[in-house]
Amino acid sequence: MGGQAVKLVLERVGHAFLGRAVLEDFDLALTDGEVVALIGPSGCGKTTILQIAAGLLDPLRGRVRRHYRRHAVVFQEPRLLPWLAARDNIAYGLRMNGIARDLRAAMVAQRAQDVGLSAHDLDKYPAELSGGMRQRVAVARALAVRPDMVYFDEPFTAVDVGLKRILQDLVIEAAAREQFSALFVTHDLSEAVRVAHRLVLLPRRADGTIVERAIAGEPGRRSERAIFALVEAWSADPAFRELFDGRESLH
Ligand SMILES: Nc1ncnc2c1ncn2[C@@H]1O[C@H](COP(=O)(O)OP(=O)(O)OP(=O)(O)O)[C@@H](O)[C@H]1O
Ligand SMILES: [Mg+2]
Repeated sequence: MGGQAVKLVLERVGHAFLGRAVLEDFDLALTDGEVVALIGPSGCGKTTILQIAAGLLDPLRGRVRRHYRRHAVVFQEPRLLPWLAARDNIAYGLRMNGIARDLRAAMVAQRAQDVGLSAHDLDKYPAELSGGMRQRVAVARALAVRPDMVYFDEPFTAVDVGLKRILQDLVIEAAAREQFSALFVTHDLSEAVRVAHRLVLLPRRADGTIVERAIAGEPGRRSERAIFALVEAWSADPAFRELFDGRESLH
C-alpha cells in the first residue's frame, strides 16, 4: 500500500430510490494506493455507492470528498464504441484530453501490452473480439488516462473463470505498479480476497451492519492456499452469512 494520504472520503452518505432507503450514514475512506473491495448481496447498494463516489450520482445526504486528480471506471459490460477499432477505443480518453497522435499511439501500445492484447487485436472492432478481449480493452482504456483512482463495478462477472484470474492479476499488477487507489465492487468473495487490501461488506438492508476486514498480505503476493483458507473461513463466518443465503431474507 502507498502512503496514508486520503484519496476519497464518503461521510454519512445516505441515498434512497423512490422513497426506499438504499444507504444510511455510510462512511468510507480510501488511502493512496489502497484497493478496497466492496462486496454484498445483489441489490444492497454497491453500484449506488460507486456512482456516488465517482460523482455519477448525487447522494441525498452526506458528502463526498475527492482528493485525486483523475479517475476511470470499468463496468461489468465493456461499453466500447462499436464503430472504433480496439486501439481507438483505448485511445479515446487520451484524444479527449488533447494528447498528440504520436504520444497517443505509444501510450496505447503500452496499455495493450499491459493487458495482453496483440497489435493484431488492436485493429479489430469490438464485434470481432471475444468477451474477454473486450474487457481487456475496457481495462486498457481505463488505465490509459493514468488515473490515480479507478472504480471497478463487477468488471469480470461476465468473463469465464480462467480468464477472470488473468484479468484480476492484470488489475493487481497495474495497481501495484501505478499506485492507483481502487474501489472494486464484486459479489465474489474470492475475487475480493485476491485483489484488495481491505474488504467492506454491505448488508442486504440499509439499516444492517457493515463489516470491515483487513486482508492480510499484499494483493498479488498472497499464496493460493492463503486465499483459499481465508475464503473458507469467511464463508463460515456468521458476519458473511447474507452474502450466501440467496434471496429469502429480502423482506
Ligand atoms: N435508478 C434507480 N431507480 C430506482 N431504484 C434503483 C435505481 N438504481 C438502483 N435502484 C435500487 O437500489 C438498490 C441498490 O441498487 P444497486 O444497483 O446499487 O445494487 P448492487 O448492490 O449494485 O446490486 P448488483 O450486485 O445486482 O449489481 C436496488 O434495490 C435497486 O433496485
Ligand atoms: Mg451493481
